[in-house]
Amino acid sequence: MDGSPVVMTDPIDALRDRRADFPILAETVHGRPLVFLDSAASAQKPVQVIEAMGDTMRTQYANIHRGLHWMSERTTEAYEAVRDQVAGLIGAPAREEVIFTRNSTEAINLVAYSFGSLLRPGQAVVISEMEHHANLVPWQMLRDRTGIELRVAPITDAGDLDLDALERLVADGRVALVAVTHMSNVLGTVTPARRIADIAHAAGARVLFDGSQFVVHRRVDVRAIDADFYTFTGHKLYGPTGIGVLWGRRELLEEMPPFMGGGDMISSVTFERSIWATVPHKFEAGTPAIIETIGLGAAIRYIEAVGYDAIAAHEAALVAYALPRLAEVPGLRVIGAPADRGGVISFTMDDVHPHDIATLLDRNGVAVRAGHHCAEPLMRRLGLSATARASFALYTTREEVDALTATLTQIRGFFA
Ligand code: ALA
Repeated sequence: MDGSPVVMTDPIDALRDRRADFPILAETVHGRPLVFLDSAASAQKPVQVIEAMGDTMRTQYANIHRGLHWMSERTTEAYEAVRDQVAGLIGAPAREEVIFTRNSTEAINLVAYSFGSLLRPGQAVVISEMEHHANLVPWQMLRDRTGIELRVAPITDAGDLDLDALERLVADGRVALVAVTHMSNVLGTVTPARRIADIAHAAGARVLFDGSQFVVHRRVDVRAIDADFYTFTGHKLYGPTGIGVLWGRRELLEEMPPFMGGGDMISSVTFERSIWATVPHKFEAGTPAIIETIGLGAAIRYIEAVGYDAIAAHEAALVAYALPRLAEVPGLRVIGAPADRGGVISFTMDDVHPHDIATLLDRNGVAVRAGHHCAEPLMRRLGLSATARASFALYTTREEVDALTATLTQIRGFFA
């Protein structure tokens, strides 16, 4: 130590200046400053994303992969550069393994339809009790189409995936795929991805992670977690709607048949037959979401500029701050106590329906989500019909958590 004072930057305050990048955060709602605690549903957009999309449309736009003219070539380069960015973001070994979809739901449907078409009766897919409908309904549809079995791994009362039960579920060697969330959109549970992959692989199964929530808060490394498929969506990652990602191991993608047919996914077509393009184009039929993909690229640049270390530290500090504050609100119950929780907190309050909580919070400018959060079977497992949910983003402040808890305390006062 040289005697100079050590300046410790508070991880929550460290990102405070970033709020200025999000124009919408300066808005008022019902005459109150907006307190936006619904980022798990969709995050707000920084000006860098808004401008990248506008600039593309203003100055450099044409359809891609088709034109021989300058505009088309430039737009193709901009679109394809995002594939490299995504590969870099998640540690993918090859850019060709990155497939652009409309959202995470479409990415999972692609795997359920395409990888699923290679499965036979007698084989099984395992999901967990805490899946979003996006990682549940496509597997039910596959089961009903093909006669495979759909197994459900339980969670503990704390809201963690029961790994012993998962091991038992895959033990008969008939499971082709374990498809689970990397972070629950209801409980905030961060699942131990590498352990799950090891359990799946030891039983000869592949593993898919729905990373829609996780990738917003922490760095994903698909090689480190030994994933076979990984999905996420752009709009939760500060990017636009209409663009999502499926990453898959090349050898799997090459074996899988196309999901949708049309332009851009073929290498040749006659009336008798078509020959598919190589990956990733085999899975990208039709004109893609060009502007949105470029917007996702801007969002990734933004995330990388802020840095996942700062984002993860901010999230952890905010959750550590919020949980005891919420516990002080009379009659409030936080749902779940997972070993590792990301920036999502569901709660209920005695005598006040979650929809009323959300409506009354909104009257005070505080936006939260209420309902079953597209996870009805999880709600049933928890013995609830709905929860209110506060979710954090890199622009969330301690004062916003204080506004939430103060307003909740007032609401409780009306009903007590
Ligand atoms: N999946 C989004 C949510 O959890 C819509 O709110």
